[in-house]
Amino acid sequence: MGEALMAGFLRGGLYQPQAVCVSHPQPARRQYWAETYGVRVTPENRDAADSSVLLLAVKPQQFSSVRDALGELPGKDTLLVSVLAGVTLATLEAAFPGRPVIRAMPNTPARVGEACTALAFGHRVGSDQRAWGERLFATVGQVAVVAETQMDAVTALAGSGPAYVAVVVEALIDGGVAAGLPRPLATQLALQTVLGSVKLMQTETLHPAQLKDQVTSPAGTTMAGLAHLEQAGVRGALIQTVLAAYQRSQSLGQATQPR
Ligand SMILES: NC(=O)c1ccc[n+]([C@@H]2O[C@H](COP(=O)([O-])OP(=O)(O)OC[C@H]3O[C@@H](n4cnc5c(N)ncnc54)[C@H](OP(=O)(O)O)[C@@H]3O)[C@@H](O)[C@H]2O)c1
Repeated sequence: MGEALMAGFLRGGLYQPQAVCVSHPQPARRQYWAETYGVRVTPENRDAADSSVLLLAVKPQQFSSVRDALGELPGKDTLLVSVLAGVTLATLEAAFPGRPVIRAMPNTPARVGEACTALAFGHRVGSDQRAWGERLFATVGQVAVVAETQMDAVTALAGSGPAYVAVVVEALIDGGVAAGLPRPLATQLALQTVLGSVKLMQTETLHPAQLKDQVTSPAGTTMAGLAHLEQAGVRGALIQTVLAAYQRSQSLGQATQPR
């Protein structure tokens, strides 16, 4: 996720590569970062501590050790930007006293500039820093500013969502194969059908029900398929899927609170 974001920030021209310092424990990854992006690299997190913006993109379980390794932050206004799932603004503000913090929840389509990132701002974040945070994440897709209380729901829908979409696409491909199509053709058709349908709804501001009705003629093929979809409870399954992820996000968040 850190790479997807940084690639977008650089592509968007928000930073010159030499203005960026990437800290990574593995020599091979540092070499990759330096060769691929031309950024400065270091094995020591504290070498990045005097940055004006500090992007935290480690696993939530690594948060406390990375926080310890950073030590005192020399910059008074260093802006902390965290993408760590479940790590709350309160935890971040307690870990970095006096510093402005932004909690972000991007998703993996950031790699192709099609993320949707939710941002929640800590109470010390000024208007310029809010604008900068929004500009940063706009380089990798859409941005929505949310209340922090919505972050678990955002995580469940958008953070985990690419996996659900992938399962749906995989099942559509298998359906095409079951109906006799070669797999490469079924894959092309499934991917483009999902992409095209989403673009159509976005471009024409179509409600999903409108698009469905437009494709469904009386006693036609789509209606036969839809009847099966409803009988199988696919809507209910997807709703419960997001709710299960929401509950899991809540419980993981509680596990990362300071004791
Ligand atoms: N992936 C997603 O869809 C997604 C979406 C939203 C938010 N996030 C959040 O993004 C964060 C990263 O997730 P990810 O999926 O990108 O995980 P990841 O691929 O494991 O990335 C974490 C990176 O941090 C490195 N690292 C480990 N210890 C470090 C240290 N002490 N100092 C500096 N770097 C260190 C890891 O190196 P090693 O491989 O050597 O351990 C790894 O390259 C998580 O907090 C997650 O909640 C992820």
